[in-house]
Amino acid sequence: MAGILTSRLQPDDGTFHLMDVFRLTGPARLNGVVDVRGAKNSVLKLMAASLLAVGRTTITNVPAILDVRIMVELLVRLGCEVLYDSEDGVVSIDVPEQVGNQADYELVRAMRASISVLGPLTARMRAAHVALPGGDAIGSRGLDMHQAGLEALGAVVHLDHGYFVAEAPGGLRGTEIVLGFPSVGATENLVMASTLAQGTTTISNAAREPEIVDICTMLVEMGAQIEGIGTPELTITGVEALRPVTHRTVGDRIVAGTFAFGAALSAGDVTVRGIGLDLMPNIGLKLEDSGAVVEELSNITLGDGTAGEGFRVVGAARPLPVRVATMPFPGFPTDLQPFVIALNSVADGVGLISENLFEARWRFVQEIARLGAKVRVDGNHALVTGVDSLSGAEVEASDIRAGAGLVMAALRARGVTEVSGIDHIERGYENFVAKLRSLGVDIERVEKRDVLSFE
Ligand code: EPU
Repeated sequence: MAGILTSRLQPDDGTFHLMDVFRLTGPARLNGVVDVRGAKNSVLKLMAASLLAVGRTTITNVPAILDVRIMVELLVRLGCEVLYDSEDGVVSIDVPEQVGNQADYELVRAMRASISVLGPLTARMRAAHVALPGGDAIGSRGLDMHQAGLEALGAVVHLDHGYFVAEAPGGLRGTEIVLGFPSVGATENLVMASTLAQGTTTISNAAREPEIVDICTMLVEMGAQIEGIGTPELTITGVEALRPVTHRTVGDRIVAGTFAFGAALSAGDVTVRGIGLDLMPNIGLKLEDSGAVVEELSNITLGDGTAGEGFRVVGAARPLPVRVATMPFPGFPTDLQPFVIALNSVADGVGLISENLFEARWRFVQEIARLGAKVRVDGNHALVTGVDSLSGAEVEASDIRAGAGLVMAALRARGVTEVSGIDHIERGYENFVAKLRSLGVDIERVEKRDVLSFE
């Protein structure tokens, strides 16, 4: 072959590869019951928090997603013994007296949430070497607040061969931290670090997402002293040591919201089990603004037989546009923004969305435009003019929520839509295809040949 070029690309000459795509035939309505397990953005941090206590910590209600497997690998490389039952949703982590202190580049690159071992390792092992996450499809996402907070707690932080290194040979000590922005990741790392610091730490302008409340609750169960949980002002009094516990992960409000918006935009009727609307302020209201009927369901039996919360969404025949500005909790979550664009793109009128958290979350817009959506982006605003119906096309997921957003938009698209980049979706949604099929959608995962591209 060397030096000889044929006029056509050949399947065996390195220009093609095989990839899996989701192939969906629309239009389709979401109808039925869907079970939602624990939140990705909580469970990964709960797993990191286990490093703070020697012994076996057990986490339940764990979703079967790729990111959990990556976190298992990270904990194993740190020296923990981890048992993961993905069917029953249980992760059991045996943490030894001495754990390693390095989070490798290949893992952090695959999953940015790996940086949540930074706080626990600095607190307990007095040193952490965590690879810098690097580029991200939804924005720059700095680590400056993680760094400034750890430095205030007495750690010395520097960069070494692409690694963020934090060292505190004499241990951390309590301090006052004021966050410039209620960062979820920085709040979590700094709370975890403070639990074993000497003295009292206050964190002002802290994030207060349900996932933060979940991790603080688990830390308290482990013996940590934290006041102000669920408020922007956290006070943590350091203790000598924490003990391992068994903890149930809070339900995933973003996965729940995904199916809820799917019902609202497809004139569907979906009962979501596993999380109550009290953890989703604003979301129920926005669904109602779209003309959907939303009903709270308390004390119901969940898929795993336990008692819990849920809600039902019955979508309007054609949704009305909704106006949304993304904000830290209790504001409207940025992670549901693509679903609002999807809903507005088939709504009867014009809807405005303002994205205030991630500047690069508009990559989704180029893709949904391939389905015929009319979206105009200006700075951090997107103006969406609803059309009667979208038309199926080949589209690519650039991140987890963009991918799931494209699948939901495809419910209102005539014909076949193929979504590539599904690894992104599987990072955060368990059994996505099976769940959609059980809700009545004609969707399958198929293998496809693709020309290699180098952007
Ligand atoms: N930021 C900084 N410096 C910092 C920390 C954050 O500039 O030191 C900026 C970021 O660049 C970003 C903003 O602050 O513009 C928000 O970042 P935050 O730290 O709050 O977010 P995160 O911890 O990186 C988590 C979720 C995201 C979710 C955001 C906001 C996890 C693993 N990820 O990210 O979830 O969008 O909070 O709610 O918990 C997703 O699940 O699809 C996802 C992206």
